[in-house]
Amino acid sequence: METAAFENPLREGLRLERTPESCIVVIFGASGDLTKRKLVPSLYSLAGQNLLPSGFSIVGTARTAMTHEEFRSRMKDAINQFSDAGSDPDIWENFAAGMLYHPTNIKDRESFKTLRDLLCQINQQRGTSGNWLFYLSTPPALYAPITQMLGAVGLNRSHGWTRIIIEKPFGRDLESMRALNKKVLDVFAEDQVYRIDHYLGKETVQNIMVLRFSNGIFEPLWNRRYIDHVQITAAESLGIENRGGYYEQAGTLRDMIQNHLFQVFALVAMEPPASLRPNAVRDEKIKVMEAIRPISVEEIDQFAVRGQYRAGSVNGNPMKAYRQEEDVSPDSRTETYTAVKLLVDNWRWADVPFYLRSGKRMPKRVTEVAVQFRRAPHLLFKDGGASQPNSLILRIQPDEGITLKFDAKLPGPTVNVRTVNMDFRYGTSFGKKSPQAYERLLLDAMLGDSTLFARGDLLEVSWQLLMPILEAWHKPVDHLPHYEGGSWGPRESDEF
Ligand code: BG6
Repeated sequence: METAAFENPLREGLRLERTPESCIVVIFGASGDLTKRKLVPSLYSLAGQNLLPSGFSIVGTARTAMTHEEFRSRMKDAINQFSDAGSDPDIWENFAAGMLYHPTNIKDRESFKTLRDLLCQINQQRGTSGNWLFYLSTPPALYAPITQMLGAVGLNRSHGWTRIIIEKPFGRDLESMRALNKKVLDVFAEDQVYRIDHYLGKETVQNIMVLRFSNGIFEPLWNRRYIDHVQITAAESLGIENRGGYYEQAGTLRDMIQNHLFQVFALVAMEPPASLRPNAVRDEKIKVMEAIRPISVEEIDQFAVRGQYRAGSVNGNPMKAYRQEEDVSPDSRTETYTAVKLLVDNWRWADVPFYLRSGKRMPKRVTEVAVQFRRAPHLLFKDGGASQPNSLILRIQPDEGITLKFDAKLPGPTVNVRTVNMDFRYGTSFGKKSPQAYERLLLDAMLGDSTLFARGDLLEVSWQLLMPILEAWHKPVDHLPHYEGGSWGPRESDEF
């Protein structure tokens, strides 16, 4: 009998999902925000789709003392609050049966030994075969100590597979990234380390490769002969949402550009990989990142613009200035808006600028890649209206989809030209909501597929590129560009 999945012709023939081997996911930082908002709801959603193996277990761990029951009850509330579907009694019962809590203290080696004993016990009881996936969702200062403690008690190896997912930020500059990487690689091998970038779990980001390499019509145009420039934008209407402490140390360059936007850039600009093997794809990303022209501290103003939001309003609601946010210094110089211009010195992209920009407290949330093509060489219809160059907009979120903008004749006796849109929308074409990015990434890590995770060398290149900007912006300045909350960024950005 045909299932509902085949009622929509566009979903016909989709690849059947694989289920990982039985395993235990150990979440460090289990009392934190990410665990309740994303990690546990995503694992629960995988359970609801029958994508988790039998015997699957979650062990939450943090400093807080908590019973298994208390942890389960907190996670049930989290699922009710943050999962799209809410908790279903049948799925929940099975899911909760494998959910345990263990308090660990980074200063107490004994607590890591008892964690190890617990994992061995679960292995025997639930048949998880020594397969362990550690998830570090703690403050970044704990990444190295936790990794080292895992090594010290022998939790970096098992008779099954052992992997570790590390959240961003992975370092705050080149030096700290290298130091952290070294400490992690002292304990785990590179192929055990999954540095997560949740943008790569987004369906629309994965679709960049499908659009480029599964269609014959785009790739021939995807180069300097036909493309004038590319804009990659991640605008957020939100501010810093009680994360002042973290954001003061980060700023947009570290928070969004170094990771999410660079990853999107690499997918848009890289050469076709020879296969979909994780390293084939990641090698191509590195190559194009390495082709980005280095920026020197002296010429920063031509290549990077920053800004910080003042008080303003979003959708008619008054919003305070960044400097008035909690845990933010009243004379903070941290940027909440960044735009950078990248030039890629290779045959495909010579002289085609890529503009990457991201900001908080913009008028609306929109993440997109806008590929702007060159003008038609001879404008036959220039008297018929302002002809726009064609553009292809990949809408990452919200309103996921793709729009091609082109000129068309306005119906009527005269030749009047207007720009119109040819639109693809995920919602209407596939009739179902895209899964959460974390679902896909957790599943891939359990399956041992690292394609959508950042390799150490990519971080190395991205930090290297940004160091001159960080250095220049670290210097005291008389004037830090500001923008009104709810606007599209500082004036300097328009000029740029
Ligand atoms: C996170 C940043 O990595 O990404 C946040 O730390 C940002 O500051 C968030 O808001 C944006 O993610 P998304 O999926 O909402 O675009």
